Amino acid sequence: MSRSPMVVRTVPALRRAVDGLRARKAMIALVPTMGALHDGHVSLVRLAKRRAQKVVVSIFVNPTQFAPTEDFGSYPRTWKADLAKLAAEKVDLIWNPDVKAMYPEGFATRIVPEGPATAGLEDRFRPHFFGGVATVVGKLFTQCRPDVAIFGEKDFQQLRVVTQMARDLDLGVKVIGSRTVRERDGLAMSSRNVYLAPEQRQAAPELYRAMKLSAARLRAGEPADAVMAAGAELITAAGFALDYFEVRHAETLAPIASLAQGPMRMLVAAKIGTTRLIDNIAV
Ligand code: PAF
Repeated sequence: MSRSPMVVRTVPALRRAVDGLRARKAMIALVPTMGALHDGHVSLVRLAKRRAQKVVVSIFVNPTQFAPTEDFGSYPRTWKADLAKLAAEKVDLIWNPDVKAMYPEGFATRIVPEGPATAGLEDRFRPHFFGGVATVVGKLFTQCRPDVAIFGEKDFQQLRVVTQMARDLDLGVKVIGSRTVRERDGLAMSSRNVYLAPEQRQAAPELYRAMKLSAARLRAGEPADAVMAAGAELITAAGFALDYFEVRHAETLAPIASLAQGPMRMLVAAKIGTTRLIDNIAV
């Protein structure tokens, strides 16, 4: 049986634990999560282990990135299973603050990201989201003082936002993206997939299928407008209500119409029933 990683729940205890890791001159990697860990998170931890000697995983369901109408209350919380997974991966430290430890009474400072955070993708539908993410990730970086931090490419706009923030604020953390892990039928792994009813789960891989087909057509030189309109039809025909289905510049997230204009990323967000899924691929 694997030994349980050390778990800390207060900032002073975290500081002591990180000092201990640093004293041995180890490079530290942070994997920020909201728990409900699946194989996608495990792949982040494994990449972290390849990039640093010590791995810290944070588990914190961050209330400030949820709108009042969203699923903060019902977000899956699976502490025992998470701990077992992280023990099996031989993680060194788990940072698991409660809301009061992260946002003590009187907390009054926020990071307001611009640039990729205002690209008109997730921010158009979840205007509260990137302020909440940037603030908590900024705190996680200063609390854990990692050399590198690993984020999944599945939340592609989030990855761009935290990369920009780390650079802009000189946080001294190298942000590394990790490729999306998919179920056998192509559905991107997500903690929210547990919300899908069986028939929705069956339809869900259509998102990835539509993206792959559309990306192949773009690579073949077909015009982006027609390709994206046809892709959107496939997605809605599968039972989704589409928020967006777009191609953007992979670095800046600016609108882009052809591969000649730079590296391209295709991004989608759509609801099936009440569950909202996001996904993206490189074109
Ligand atoms: O991607 C997530 O799980 C969250 O947005 C993050 C980065 C842990 C911040 O709460």
